Amino acid sequence: MEKFNVDLQPVGRRVSVPAGESLLSAAQAAGIALIAICGGEGLCQECRVRLISGKLTPLTLVEEDSLEPADLKNGFRLACQASPLSDVKIEIPPESLTASQRLQVDGQEEAVELDPQVIPVEVTLPPPSLADLRDDLSRLREGLVSLDHFTLSIGLPVLVQFSERMRSQSWQGRLAMGRDGQVVSVLPSSLPLFGFAVDVGTTKLAAYLVNLEDGVISGRQGAMNPQIGYGEDVVSRIAYANQGESHRHTLQTRLVETLNNLLADLCAVARVTQGQVVDAVVVGNTAMHHLFAGLSVRQLGQAPYVPALTEAVVLPASQVGLALAPGANVYLPPNIAGYVGADHVSMLLATHAWEMPGVTLALDIGTNTEICLSTGERLLCCSCASGPAFEGAHIQAGMRAAPGAIERVQTIQGSLQLSTIDGQPPVGLCGSGILDVVAELLANGVIDVRGVFHKNAEGVVSTERGGAYLLVPAQKSGHHTDILVTRKDVNEIQLAKAAIRAGVEILLIEAGLKAQDIEHFIVAGAFGTYLYLPSAVRIGMFPDLPHERFHQVGNAAGIGACQMLVSRTRRAMATEILKRMEYIELTTHPQFSDTFVDMMALKRN
Ligand code: FES
Repeated sequence: MEKFNVDLQPVGRRVSVPAGESLLSAAQAAGIALIAICGGEGLCQECRVRLISGKLTPLTLVEEDSLEPADLKNGFRLACQASPLSDVKIEIPPESLTASQRLQVDGQEEAVELDPQVIPVEVTLPPPSLADLRDDLSRLREGLVSLDHFTLSIGLPVLVQFSERMRSQSWQGRLAMGRDGQVVSVLPSSLPLFGFAVDVGTTKLAAYLVNLEDGVISGRQGAMNPQIGYGEDVVSRIAYANQGESHRHTLQTRLVETLNNLLADLCAVARVTQGQVVDAVVVGNTAMHHLFAGLSVRQLGQAPYVPALTEAVVLPASQVGLALAPGANVYLPPNIAGYVGADHVSMLLATHAWEMPGVTLALDIGTNTEICLSTGERLLCCSCASGPAFEGAHIQAGMRAAPGAIERVQTIQGSLQLSTIDGQPPVGLCGSGILDVVAELLANGVIDVRGVFHKNAEGVVSTERGGAYLLVPAQKSGHHTDILVTRKDVNEIQLAKAAIRAGVEILLIEAGLKAQDIEHFIVAGAFGTYLYLPSAVRIGMFPDLPHERFHQVGNAAGIGACQMLVSRTRRAMATEILKRMEYIELTTHPQFSDTFVDMMALKRN
């Protein structure tokens, strides 16, 4: 039987399948789990993929009916409906993958002009002799004069490395040099230079090893932020840090230990020595930034919540404990405000949201959701307290995205269908699952716009704490107890969505615009990338805009950090963003309270 190669990107798997096999089966054969709630019937539209090259069977009627015209134009297909007619290359968007196959380190990359802060300089120096008794430093300084590097500076640890390395390398070597003439590392000739980029999230860390000479990300790895043990969210972590100097120190060292482990793993996989890692960029929200840099966070816990500093800083890596090359520095991009940090700046850089023509709104959903509105002339931003509901906290059956978490819920042919992470029996709901449930209960008339259960609706049961919806009965759940969605759960989602949408509306009011004026709606971050957009629109968390105006971009903050590693222009842009940004404080905004109350209603608007 004829066979075709299916190249699945960006995961980079290839599989050969017999003619007639669907792309869904091909992905399954390659060990890639696409979300397929309807079991491949063409009813759920979860298995969207995009054809990059090659030929597929013609569009089915189901695809013509269910895919948006813009998606069809861009080559999107339903994997369960399309089969290869030749060798094909297919792109799988992150929202079509089950959570277990997604990394919070993924984001949309782009080639950036290479202009790193640290560059290689090959040197060959005359060895000392009885006729040439110059000391090592003078020998280097005079050797570099001919290379036009006349403002040489070298710290003692690098000088130690220099004396030893140059002798063992017959006075030939490669210096990693900062543009300001600072020697960062001494390496064997031709060894490439790397940088370390990190997005320090309150919950998760995303780390990247980047080749500074070609800009390619050589490795990426995620880990939990070890500070979680000292406080789940920013507020409790600040409270812990404020209990004393030693507590703040603990948070700093625990974080840096984990970053050093991530770096060691990335280096081992890429066969790179830590001496080759000559620069770093660390982004995070303002509290994470301050804790990493060893700054006080006391003022971030008290009104008016001002940061210790907003401007970009460069710190010696050794001062913060990062195990890079002996003279390496760490660049921390600017923060905007106490609750709008360098991670937001980095996201704006990577997505170009700050410089796009027209009206662009970009947000990153978390316990605090940072929102930026670019009108083409003005840049405005705010932070809203959206709470931890979308991380599964404060939800009765809530959990993080882990095996058995319900991550997608849809009504198919009149009944709710669930998709769980790794296809395990359901044990709870992660953020995207609880968002979907509320949207489906609303669409099915089980709850009203106030979030109140209709007593007589199918599936509504009464519990000690009032009405609830029985999502999974005990006999079908992974822990043999009912999975319920309570009135309080619905209310938590209402509070979160009202906070986010009110933030969006206040920025629009400040700019004299309406939601319909938004031409690009960029949703960044792990949760934002995997949430089901129609659910967010249905409950009014996002404005009711045409589908093609939304862009789910993954961990753009991490990608922005990688860009700032290889480009000084991007660093300058980060400072430009800080200068242009108008921060809007929501808590004192005269229209915030009323807007927030209005936005509590669960309805498309
Ligand atoms: S699996 Fe393809 S539409 Fe549901």
